Amino acid sequence: MLFQITYHSFSRPGLSITEIEDIITQAKKFNSAHEISGCLIYNKGYFLQVLEGEKQLVTSLINSIKLDDRHDHFTILSEGETNERTFKEWSMAFYHDPLNTELNGEVQEIKDKLLALSASSEKSIFAMKVFWYNVRNLLTEKGYYKPG
Ligand SMILES: Cc1cc2nc3c(=O)[nH]c(=O)nc-3n(C[C@H](O)[C@H](O)[C@H](O)COP(=O)(O)O)c2cc1C
Repeated sequence: MLFQITYHSFSRPGLSITEIEDIITQAKKFNSAHEISGCLIYNKGYFLQVLEGEKQLVTSLINSIKLDDRHDHFTILSEGETNERTFKEWSMAFYHDPLNTELNGEVQEIKDKLLALSASSEKSIFAMKVFWYNVRNLLTEKGYYKPG
């Protein structure tokens, strides 16, 4: 059984592009070595991430991400078990605000795939529905889900 978890957080004020790129590099390396997949969205200081994989591995990763001082206000939105991965092909897909042109990457491809995947999210477990709800709001600039 696979485990999926969605959280959001706010980046530490002044977090640089290089620091965000370091997170992605670190995430891709660790996640692919541990059969963890997922997606990280960054938009105007807001992180939204979903992680999926073996429960103990994902839980221990989440515990270390939670303590990372590159972000704060870490809030778990939802978690649950599922039979299928949503991000099979991605150790860590990264999508960021396209206005931030200094960051490069597979932005358009990921945006297209995210929108396509979100359209088929009806079958997803609740943790993914929460993720997609937030993704749709971010991609269509409707605003953010904020804690409290
Ligand atoms: C928003 C955010 C997302 C992260 N996502 C991952 C991830 O998916 N995989 C990963 O290995 N590290 C990720 N990290 C980095 C971890 O927090 C941490 O630095 C890494 O697990 C190494 O921890 P260690 O130095 O205690 O070994 C993320 C950090 C942040 C701030």
